[in-house]
Amino acid sequence: MKFETLAIHTGERPDRAYGAVSIPIYQTSTFAFEDIGKTRGYDYSRTANPTRKVLEETIARLEGGKAGFAFATGMAAETTAIHLLKAGDHIICGDDCYGGTYRLFQDVMPNFGLEFTFIRMDSRQKIEKAIKPNTRMLWLETPSNPLLNIVDLEMAVAIAKKHNLMTVIDNTFASPYFLRPIEYGIDLVVHSTTKYLNGHCDVVGGAIVTTTDELTERVQFLLNAMGTCASPFDCWLVLRGIETLPVRMRQHEENALAVANYLQQHPAVKRVFYPGLKSHPGHELAKRQMKGFGGMVSFELKGGIEAVKTCLRRIKIIVMAESLGGIASLAEHPATMSHASMPKEHRQKVGISDDLVRLSVGLENKDDLIDDLRQALEPS
Ligand SMILES: Cc1ncc(COP(=O)(O)O)c(C=O)c1O
Repeated sequence: MKFETLAIHTGERPDRAYGAVSIPIYQTSTFAFEDIGKTRGYDYSRTANPTRKVLEETIARLEGGKAGFAFATGMAAETTAIHLLKAGDHIICGDDCYGGTYRLFQDVMPNFGLEFTFIRMDSRQKIEKAIKPNTRMLWLETPSNPLLNIVDLEMAVAIAKKHNLMTVIDNTFASPYFLRPIEYGIDLVVHSTTKYLNGHCDVVGGAIVTTTDELTERVQFLLNAMGTCASPFDCWLVLRGIETLPVRMRQHEENALAVANYLQQHPAVKRVFYPGLKSHPGHELAKRQMKGFGGMVSFELKGGIEAVKTCLRRIKIIVMAESLGGIASLAEHPATMSHASMPKEHRQKVGISDDLVRLSVGLENKDDLIDDLRQALEPS
């Protein structure tokens, strides 16, 4: 079956009990036992739940992995994934990752003995130089948030295999529709399902997809032990979103390309970051590695922070808000919003300037979005 069909038909659908076509929300904490030691497949919803199961199987199929797991948030998925390691282990992470990932890795996990190095993952030499005797994991994000840098997965996996490192990728920005990291040999995929997988700005959620029985067993154990799982209702919402993922992603991309092209020729714009533009340093790599360039566009304004404030105050259709990947277009200021948890020195070092605006291009009519940006960028 092709991606579009899998997105709609994976898992036990129609439902086993009554043939419900829309998978029921099994809003229950616990399940009746048939006899001592005998269940109907479920005992307690932290461990497993039928609504969650369909979502987990669907995400696993879409990523081409072994098993899927659904979490309360993207950060809950990341927290669970990093617990695959133990005190004393060292992780190399992209330096331009999501601000919340940086905060977890910089301010929380070192208290439990994990050690992190943040580097730009754009060359074999840089990555190999960062490897230490206790390095266990490469944590990748591509396209990265908010700079849309592209990591060469073939290169990263080759290095990881040579040095016996586990590879984890945050595939939130591309979604499995545009990027299937497991086909490149990545070991573990994490998602904030809050974004494109759900796609409607009405849930926070996360996911992990594994590639081996050992990882599957370990992640299931951690999810249950740490209690990081998603609620049945949230799973249902994400499932419903996934059913339209392919059509949404195609439209996100078409709109994003139109917006990026518009911004690129605008005199008030200093620089546009979109992997679909030929001017993007990762364009050729993204073309090779991904099926599409996605719906995220970042840009820097020539007028500095004052120009950013004016633009964000003037947008009318596009909403000034955190998050991304939903049907409605959103604009935000990484320095004070999504990446405020990253210290200013680090932001400046990696190129997240105060002049940067990040756009999640939604599914509105693209001409309306361009008109909205035009009136926001032009002096009154
Ligand atoms: C790339 C990326 N990964 C992970 C997360 C965290 O996800 P959540 O907000 O669902 O916890 C985000 C949130 O913005 C993100 O952009």
